Amino acid sequence: MATEKPLLKVDNLSVRFPVKRGGPFTGKSFLHAVDDISFEVKRGETLAIVGESGSGKTTAALAVARLVDAYQGKVDLAGHDFLELEGEDLRKARAKVQFIFQDPYASLNPRLRAEAIVQEPLDSLDAGPAVQRQERIDELFRAVGLRPEQQRLFPHQFSGGQRQRIGIARALATQPELIICDEPVSALDVAVQAQILNLLRKLQKDFGLTYLFISHDLGVVQHMCDSIAVMYMGKIVEQADRKSLFNNPQHPYTQALLSAVPSVDRKRREATKRILIPGDPPDPINPPKGCRFANRCPVAESRCTESQPALMATDEHHKVACHLLHR
Ligand SMILES: Nc1ncnc2c1ncn2[C@@H]1O[C@H](COP(=O)(O)OP(=O)(O)OP(=O)(O)O)[C@@H](O)[C@H]1O
Ligand code: SF4
Ligand SMILES: [Mg+2]
Repeated sequence: MATEKPLLKVDNLSVRFPVKRGGPFTGKSFLHAVDDISFEVKRGETLAIVGESGSGKTTAALAVARLVDAYQGKVDLAGHDFLELEGEDLRKARAKVQFIFQDPYASLNPRLRAEAIVQEPLDSLDAGPAVQRQERIDELFRAVGLRPEQQRLFPHQFSGGQRQRIGIARALATQPELIICDEPVSALDVAVQAQILNLLRKLQKDFGLTYLFISHDLGVVQHMCDSIAVMYMGKIVEQADRKSLFNNPQHPYTQALLSAVPSVDRKRREATKRILIPGDPPDPINPPKGCRFANRCPVAESRCTESQPALMATDEHHKVACHLLHR
């Protein structure tokens, strides 16, 4: 049986930011925010990208959507070489990728009514006469669980969860295929988080959406994704389907992240001791030549500081970048 082509395929993507350092005689330096990462997302599925603050999750997503420039790499979106598109082709392809942001308050224009916020992306698409547009807005409000009369309200008149629903309706307006959710529930209370995650799952099923779901919290993605990429300092250090990653985390960094997630499974809860990660990540402008996790890794060996481990398969469903796993 032929396997279906993924909706999104990212190959060897890197993003560097020029930074100025030191006195007038020091040359230009670069911060390697994303360093040679590859992943794919199948249609209708969710890939979670997880990692602590500064690991490059948002930058990777922005580069995929062409909102920051890639230094190198290839992004194939539905069979198009997305980074090479121009003009009308680019405009059309862009409408197929939408973002849902962490802070719905900051990402919604406070001077616009909810209906105008959701309508905005339709205007730029030239989406038919006014009546049709109104129907579409009604439909979108229904889909995200908001009442019709709430269309006339301004963002400050909504709760945090409701504001995120407006953000989701806006993202859905252009009938995108890929939705990038960047920490969509991090700013919300735990109870509201669950409601928004359930809504995202329902919309995925109803509209066949594909999600790239970014979070610093493995707990948030444990019921939300089909596969996971764990990032550390611009690199993917572990990549697996959800079951393999949660049942058998292999990279010391993932093991530490996962040990902090309260498990519903009693056996796993009892078997896992919290692993604390000491210290801070090294300077991203001058990363170490060996493994980037070496200065914090509880099981580091001398070779870890000498060469960088490559991301390699440990089985059919799992890739890990750690010297200890590839002897
Ligand atoms: N425009 C920029 N110019 C320079 N450096 C940047 C820029 N944007 C991000 N960075 C740096 O790139 C690295 C990755 O940042 P990024 O925001 O992608 O991380 P993140 O994983 O999304 O973190 P968070 O969980 O805090 O959102 C960080 O070191 C950050 O300081
Ligand atoms: S390569 Fe070495 S330092 Fe890096 S994660 Fe593996 S054991 Fe730790
Ligand atoms: Mg981010």
